[in-house]
Amino acid sequence: MTTPTYHWARLHDLTGPHVHEILQARESVFIVEQNCPYQDADDCDPHAWHMTGRINGKLACYVRVVDPGKKYPYPSIGRVLTTTEFRGSGLGRAMMQEAIRHAHQLYPGQPIQIGAQAHLYAFYNALGFEQISDEYLEDGIPHILMLKQFN
Ligand SMILES: CC(C)(COP(=O)(O)OP(=O)(O)OC[C@H]1O[C@@H](n2cnc3c(N)ncnc32)[C@H](O)[C@@H]1OP(=O)(O)O)[C@@H](O)C(=O)NCCC(=O)NCCS
Repeated sequence: MTTPTYHWARLHDLTGPHVHEILQARESVFIVEQNCPYQDADDCDPHAWHMTGRINGKLACYVRVVDPGKKYPYPSIGRVLTTTEFRGSGLGRAMMQEAIRHAHQLYPGQPIQIGAQAHLYAFYNALGFEQISDEYLEDGIPHILMLKQFN
């Protein structure tokens, strides 16, 4: 896997073209590819760190870290995506490790919470997340809450 160049920013520090690129990638994966009409640009976006990862100048991955108390009591990682061209080479895991590092640096001592698509349990569990809820439906897709503790 080629290591991407990561870039972190708050929403108000992103340029218009950068925001457009992020929303285009999120819509393309979570609405079009997953065939799921849902409110993608939401009230958490202004309260999050947005991370893009580039390989050879192309957008290869995206994730956001939402501030604690906004979506969940703890800082949370969401909108986890790799673009189709870059899937299956370890980038998803590497990007999550970078997001965990960033969230832990921002909020040391706090766990990280995620609302994971249930079929990705093993992907997140291998990164240290434990299931803390029963399965529930969000926008018609089975999800589980998971928590990563540090100690
Ligand atoms: C989930 C996603 C980010 C994984 O990215 P990726 O770059 O393909 O992941 P990696 O190559 O790092 O794979 C890491 C591990 O997860 C597993 N994995 C990846 N995608 C998976 C999937 N859709 N279902 C089950 N396991 C998966 C891989 O097999 C690999 O396991 P291994 O180490 O035992 O071989 C990517 O498939 C994606 O963007 N999916 C669409 C968006 C999405 O559903 N996001 C998650 C929302 S909770």
